[in-house]
Amino acid sequence: TAPTGDRAKRVLLAKPRGYCAGVDRAVETVERALELYGAPIYVRKQIVHNRHVVETLERRGAIFVEENAEVPEGATVIFSAHGVAPEVYEQAKQRNLRAIDATCPLVTKVHQEARRYAKDDYDILLIGHEGHEEVVGTSGEAPEHVTLVDGPDSVDDVTVRDESKVVWLSQTTLSVDETLETVERLRTKFPGLQSPPSDDICYATQNRQQVVKQIAADCDVLLVVGSRNSSNSVRLREVALEAGSRSAYLVDFAAEIDDAWFDGATTVGLTSGASVPEELVQQVLAHLAERGFTDVDEVTTVEERLTFALPREIKKDLAARN
Ligand code: F3S
Repeated sequence: TAPTGDRAKRVLLAKPRGYCAGVDRAVETVERALELYGAPIYVRKQIVHNRHVVETLERRGAIFVEENAEVPEGATVIFSAHGVAPEVYEQAKQRNLRAIDATCPLVTKVHQEARRYAKDDYDILLIGHEGHEEVVGTSGEAPEHVTLVDGPDSVDDVTVRDESKVVWLSQTTLSVDETLETVERLRTKFPGLQSPPSDDICYATQNRQQVVKQIAADCDVLLVVGSRNSSNSVRLREVALEAGSRSAYLVDFAAEIDDAWFDGATTVGLTSGASVPEELVQQVLAHLAERGFTDVDEVTTVEERLTFALPREIKKDLAARN
């Protein structure tokens, strides 16, 4: 075999990667609110699960809080892309806050499904990760009807009131394959289980996993740029390993990369989660180039064109200003 030094070192750059339409809209909502109403703008929870994004907005005057109770009466508060339970709007009203909702429309869609099935008195089996903000928000639509199913292994413990009225819904940022497995096990247990009217796992999550699956088997190392609390980013690393990448790492920034990961490696895969700005990926590419990985091959599975309009309140105030 030829010494590794003689072999071309290359990067397989996944596309689509990075920002989805929901993240783009949520981040722009905070930026526009800062422009329109001036700092400080309060944001309940991290607007999207990315350290760099949060720190950048903080420098521009956004204040991130955990709960409405931390927001001064009468101030502006933005709800994050992950969605909130109805009681959070109620609290905001009581505190006289100007609430702007940056919930991703694809999360809102799942909330609507939960409300509809709850109204028809279904048991809703919500597949998702315990404690994730999106799951807390969706469950909050109908707490008495929703049971959380956190992966295939928790199916055994699930009970329902009436097996003929059961539906599954899911968090938008799960592993597609693991969710299929969970659904299969639920269906074995409850043969009458109904499916959501359309996919709850969103297009961005599915597309980013699909391209990783395509490149993973060719990669000695696959790097996912993303934060540890970002569900879709964490899933990308898992998908890479399942699909045959020899190793895979999640990093927030290029500075977190350890050169030892590249020992003997000739092909490095690179992608980023749906909340990750492209500049962070470009920094990783520059970092890789300095280590001899100069040959970059972008592998595209699908072109994404979806965009979402800004929240109503922001659109109205932008129009009034112009
Ligand atoms: Fe929305 Fe999916 Fe992005 S639910 S925020 S489009 S990851």
